[in-house]
Amino acid sequence: MKNNQQRVSAEAIYAQFPPLSINSIFHMFLMFIGFGLLVVLVFSQLNSSNYNFQSISISSSTFSLLPSTTPTNPTNPTTLPSLESTLSSPPPPPPPLLVPPPPPASSSLSQESKNRVNNGAGSKEFVKPPSANHGMDDKVLLHKASKVPRVSQQASKKVAFLFLTKWDLPLGPLWEKFFKGHEGKYSIYVHSDPSFDATALPASSVFHDRYIPSKKVKWGEFSMIEAERRLLATALLDVSNERFVLLSEACIPLTDFSTVYNYLMSSSKSFVEVYDQAGHVGRGRYSYRMRPHIQIEQWRKGSQWFEMKRELAIEIVSDVKYYTLFKRHCKPGCYADEHYIPTYVHMKSGRSNSNRTLTWTDWSRGGPHPLKLLRTDVTIEGLKSMRQGNCEYNGRSTDVCYLFARKFHPNTLDRLLRFSKGALGF
Ligand SMILES: *[C@@H]1O[C@H](CO)[C@@H](O)[C@H](O)[C@H]1NC(C)=O
Repeated sequence: MKNNQQRVSAEAIYAQFPPLSINSIFHMFLMFIGFGLLVVLVFSQLNSSNYNFQSISISSSTFSLLPSTTPTNPTNPTTLPSLESTLSSPPPPPPPLLVPPPPPASSSLSQESKNRVNNGAGSKEFVKPPSANHGMDDKVLLHKASKVPRVSQQASKKVAFLFLTKWDLPLGPLWEKFFKGHEGKYSIYVHSDPSFDATALPASSVFHDRYIPSKKVKWGEFSMIEAERRLLATALLDVSNERFVLLSEACIPLTDFSTVYNYLMSSSKSFVEVYDQAGHVGRGRYSYRMRPHIQIEQWRKGSQWFEMKRELAIEIVSDVKYYTLFKRHCKPGCYADEHYIPTYVHMKSGRSNSNRTLTWTDWSRGGPHPLKLLRTDVTIEGLKSMRQGNCEYNGRSTDVCYLFARKFHPNTLDRLLRFSKGALGF
């Protein structure tokens, strides 16, 4: 039963797969020889013409989404893919042809080239000024600033706005509006109380990162001159700063940025107020201990709020002789901030000075302090009239005499912001 079943299945297999005859084996042998000959022929044909390989590889790469590249040197056998990889596997990644040899890792390379592009585009617009927080002490800073180039970078001259403040900048939003859209034409430096925390300022603020290393300042004392020189020296380190304006937190601009910029850049003179005054608030503050270097006839007075050229700023930060005399002999009763720079300018570079200030101040009430303007004092007509006067500009008379004004109480801000377009032009 079992044998019978085995025989039946064997017969079925034979019926399906009959044993090979001599004839069919010979047939298969001939076919094998023929196929082998064909393979040998094809390979010899392909080897004799490398270009055929290359054209196959290019046509296959056109199906991929990878960026197409120009073919590699077809005579270089090392870049040739095998017939198998060309026909069955996806095309090889494009060789790094746009990259100078030897090619570094592709990720660091793309980052590198990205930076290069960014730098190139950035230099066409403006170069961000170096951080105001230089970390130098006064001695190192002043020494460095006294050695800077006297002529500023011609291509992108800037006005340095030096804010000498007691604490914060309550009128900051007005200044933000003033500076908006004029990036690359100004630099800002702020000297505040050393305990003031400027890190809370948003990165979008023009005052962000513009606070310089500061020391305690006592109003009317010599520490004020030290702070002014600290501001000037820091600003001098940026070779594109050409003009330097000193302002307080109570100052406002009286006109738009472009007018201020052109007025300062086109002026042949500095605007340091210098005058000779008799009486106890003038010559009366002179000390005979300053002889023989400073005579009473040379003693001058003027507003602390200056605007000066680069050359003069370098002279001021480089001065040791007069600075030391004032530090020693101009003690309370004598206010160095009203005498040191005016006297120095009169003695050293009077001819390149206009002798007037650009900062409007109301002294009409008299006394040691100017009028402080409150909210209701601010009117469009009032602001407009503050620019007006009768003064000299580059040897000609003009009625535009003031570009800045003080002193404005913090509660004037909302009115100033509302009136700025109509009264100040921005
Ligand atoms: C300013 O004063 C100086 C003297 O300190 C004088 O030489 C100069 O001519 C004055 N400048 C102007 C514009 O009047």
